[in-house]
Amino acid sequence: MKNLFVTVLTVLTLLMPSCQSKAQSDATTETVPQNDGKNVVVETIMARRSIRKYHPQAVNRDTMNIVLKCGINAPSAMNVQDWEVRVVDNQEFLNGLTTIFKEKNKEMAERDKEMRNMFRNAPTVAFIAAKKDSKFSSVDCALMAENMMIAAKSMGIGSVCMAGPVEFLKGPDCADYLNKLGFSDDYELLLTIGFGYPAEEPAAKPRDESKCKFVD
Ligand SMILES: Cc1cc2nc3c(=O)[nH]c(=O)nc-3n(C[C@H](O)[C@H](O)[C@H](O)COP(=O)(O)O)c2cc1C
Repeated sequence: MKNLFVTVLTVLTLLMPSCQSKAQSDATTETVPQNDGKNVVVETIMARRSIRKYHPQAVNRDTMNIVLKCGINAPSAMNVQDWEVRVVDNQEFLNGLTTIFKEKNKEMAERDKEMRNMFRNAPTVAFIAAKKDSKFSSVDCALMAENMMIAAKSMGIGSVCMAGPVEFLKGPDCADYLNKLGFSDDYELLLTIGFGYPAEEPAAKPRDESKCKFVD
């Protein structure tokens, strides 16, 4: 009798997981946040803004390592990962570039009295390079960049994606600095992202929802 009881119990226990997965597969497993619901990813995405005022200290490198890990966990076409990233938190490097920039862009430097560095004063800058002649590399890099900025936001780190400095950085005046970044020969600089502890909370800029449509 006792043996029979143990056998029945064992069979029931073994059956339980398959019953559960059947029930789960029957029901929707989506968790769509309701208006008053909380979803940390949605909230982080909606709260991210480009930050252009920062406290001077560079982002903690452990935190930047998490940001980088999130970056390289972005999808990439056929997982080829056609990206290279260099992070600079050496203020001499950033200030050196800025000195050259100010010299070559005197009017702009004159206008922007608060410019401490040419990366919107961000004390930590990621330089992202795309593979030349790779069809999807710039898409891969952009996805990586967004992952990095969202991850940063989730940890209280502000960011600003900047294409503005790229052409200047690729010019002859900055060659020593670009060489120091040490990108592979078949890569070229595509984007820069400034990171830092935010010193402003800008409002969201308007979004045009008419750009998104369902097609039946
Ligand atoms: C490809 C790209 C290039 C950008 N370049 C610059 C830049 O050079 N300087 C800058 O201050 N912001 C730059 N931005 C930030 C945009 O101005 C900003 O994302 C946009 O105005 C929306 O504001 P939000 O990021 O606060 O939502 C760039 C953004 C992207 C995606």
